[in-house]
Amino acid sequence: KASQEAEKRGWHLYLVGGAVRDLLLAEEASGTLLIKDIDLVVDGFHKTAEVGAGVELAKALQQLYPTARLEIHGAFQTAALLWHKDPELDSLWVDIATARTEFYPYPAANPEVEASSIRQDLYRRDFTINAMALQLTPPRAGALLDFFGGLLDLQAKQIRVLHANSFIEDPTRIYRGVRFAMRLGFHLEPQTEEYIRYAINSGVYDRTTRENSKTPALQTRLKTELKHILEAPYWKPALQLLGDLGALQCIHPTLKIDEELLGQLRLLERCLRRFDSQQTLIHWQMRLEALIAHLAAEYRGHVAKNLQLPEDSINRLYCIAQHQQKVNKNISSLEAEGGVDEVRPSQIEQLLRQYDVPMLILIAVQSSRGVRRKIWQYLTVWRNIQPILNGNDLRKLGYKPGPQYRQMLNDLLAATLDGVVCNRDEAEEFLAK
Ligand code: CTP
Repeated sequence: KASQEAEKRGWHLYLVGGAVRDLLLAEEASGTLLIKDIDLVVDGFHKTAEVGAGVELAKALQQLYPTARLEIHGAFQTAALLWHKDPELDSLWVDIATARTEFYPYPAANPEVEASSIRQDLYRRDFTINAMALQLTPPRAGALLDFFGGLLDLQAKQIRVLHANSFIEDPTRIYRGVRFAMRLGFHLEPQTEEYIRYAINSGVYDRTTRENSKTPALQTRLKTELKHILEAPYWKPALQLLGDLGALQCIHPTLKIDEELLGQLRLLERCLRRFDSQQTLIHWQMRLEALIAHLAAEYRGHVAKNLQLPEDSINRLYCIAQHQQKVNKNISSLEAEGGVDEVRPSQIEQLLRQYDVPMLILIAVQSSRGVRRKIWQYLTVWRNIQPILNGNDLRKLGYKPGPQYRQMLNDLLAATLDGVVCNRDEAEEFLAK
């Protein structure tokens, strides 16, 4: 329908970007493909014609598919049609853009000119494998437009950038390159890797980390890329590759992947797997916080703020050093007082109850084994224990309601945690004393 509508208006329509890449890959693997995100580009009109062709086409399609929601972005350049859980289409997102190009003062019927505007549109993109187009309108419907050798690169399983300045212009592409390499099982083409290293060495990230307040859009896109990577199953090798390339400098110039950090990330995973199998915590963000927490204390909060992490996350990173020191010091002095095995669960509970779970996890992965164990025990067992009696029970037992209830319940909880009280009778007896 989209190509018919474009054809009616004398335009060309192309499927571009990731969908073409994934179609070709699925074809090669004889696999099936579920595309949820489609990018279309309209092209081939006269100089004076509609800059808003994409929008016009989207509007026409919306008439034909009234269940789709229409969104128009920017200065009438692009539009999107969204089907959210449609019974027939499930969820589908179709972006329709007008070929980004200078308009040529030649008749649009000239195929050279038509091809050159879609060519220019494709040339602005990141990697050859993302810069192919499939023509959808006749007379060459079904033809693959591959000006930059994308198909050969797909076959060679390589991520190749289109031009030398690409990473300087858009440093987030370094992250995208690593992400595609990991996701598809590809490698970075050597010259592309050179360009990445050159961009990093030339200080492309100084711009993002120093002037970040002036480049919030770049920071937002970096955060989005970090999220994509840190929530993917391949996040660990991706991080390693980013580290090898020096690209973690985008978070902070001093951030390096070393054995200590890898150990902490391993502990974090173990903890998230065991403790948070329901995924109530945001795992990618916890990984990012662990990376940031690996920096020297004075940088952490600032980095979190620049990356526009949520408020609670920024606060955690600002004050983790101070809390970690406090937890470690208090547990050590409890152990020094009564011996390592003599520290009572209630003492640990009282010390740790003031912290939220992500803070405790971050403290744990940075602490010694002994402290870590105590925190794990608190998180998995002690934190969930309730006093055997509640306020109602106290009232029924004849205790006069008042602020002393709080102390009584606290004492009861401590006694329950320490195994002094195991049932209601023992609880009543404990209170009577
Ligand atoms: N693109 C780019 N530079 C960027 C981001 C995107 O050139 N920094 C281009 C790429 O050509 C990409 C297209 O815009 O194919 C669409 O972007 P996006 O939807 O993010 O990428 P996909 O290739 O569709 O990736 P995915 O499969 O992860 O959605």
